[in-house]
Amino acid sequence: MTPFRFSDIPDQTGRTVLVTGANTGIGWHIARHLARRGAKVLLGCRDPRRGEEAVARLRAEASADAPALVQLDLADGASIRAAAARVAEEERLDALINNAGVMMPPLGFAHGAEQQFGVNHLGHFLLTALLLDRLAADGGGRVVVQASLAHRRAHIAWDNLDARSGYAPQRFYQQSKLANLLFAFALDRRLRAAGVPVKAVACHPGFAQTEIVRHLGPARAAAPLIGMLFNTAEDGALPALHAATGPEVEGGAYLGPYGLAELRGRASGPAVASAAARDADAADRLWQLSETMTGTPFEIRSQLSA
Ligand SMILES: NC(=O)c1ccc[n+]([C@@H]2O[C@H](COP(=O)([O-])OP(=O)(O)OC[C@H]3O[C@@H](n4cnc5c(N)ncnc54)[C@H](OP(=O)(O)O)[C@@H]3O)[C@@H](O)[C@H]2O)c1
Repeated sequence: MTPFRFSDIPDQTGRTVLVTGANTGIGWHIARHLARRGAKVLLGCRDPRRGEEAVARLRAEASADAPALVQLDLADGASIRAAAARVAEEERLDALINNAGVMMPPLGFAHGAEQQFGVNHLGHFLLTALLLDRLAADGGGRVVVQASLAHRRAHIAWDNLDARSGYAPQRFYQQSKLANLLFAFALDRRLRAAGVPVKAVACHPGFAQTEIVRHLGPARAAAPLIGMLFNTAEDGALPALHAATGPEVEGGAYLGPYGLAELRGRASGPAVASAAARDADAADRLWQLSETMTGTPFEIRSQLSA
């Protein structure tokens, strides 16, 4: 695979893309580059004020079809359903970029699980289930899942997803990012098996300077160093842009920064997933559990033939 750079993003005119967590950090730069290349970008944001500010910024700098705010709190099933209904009003949906995430917050809950698993994985699982038929409608749709190098140290603690037996913020973040990858690969397998014309592609940004450190207390002071030594937030957006728009990208691919142990780089290429992330049995178990916890069946064949 040839390294993919910002200049390789194809013309996006006529395409509509939903980016979650688009008001800041990596999601903002994903939205910005897509809009600059002509896409209509729907910014999925939980805070209406921060979301409207991002829409205004995007309007000011991109000549693309008018961007729009889609209010979306991934911790809240009703908000996710309302957001999916809003997106269904669009003429088309070409890509869903599941980028939003929270890292190492104080203990909290979403969808009956610990918050990081609930927001980073379960919320996106539900959103994807609700939007899949829209993505399939015009052929060639993509689901992009933002994972992390952090998945490599993770395992799924099946008996403690609600943190009842203890909460270690970092371990729960790593677990949520492993769940992102298990989901992305399982989704692509199921789409292929059902012959649905949608690709699921995973990616990660390396280390990028963003607000992701907001819950880290005094360690936040080191954030600017991340931008100097590793990636800026803009650099971190490139693998997701590659995943969403690269013409040669196959479903089931996993992409990351093309340079220095996948930590940084202004190019994107293949990334390495852990053996745990490739465990198809664990992925099936996660899928069933995610259906139960979100209260939403996600059976791809029957959904699309319904
Ligand atoms: N930065 C890195 O080095 C790094 C490394 C590996 C992976 N990642 C992944 O990259 C993704 C983007 O992170 P980032 O670094 O850009 O962090 P960020 O600057 O903190 O941005 C996170 C985004 O997610 C949104 N978000 C958080 N909780 C949400 C919820 N319940 N519902 C809807 N949106 C929610 C935030 O909205 P608010 O602004 O309203 O809070 C914000 O827009 C995450 O999935 C993260 O795990 C980042």
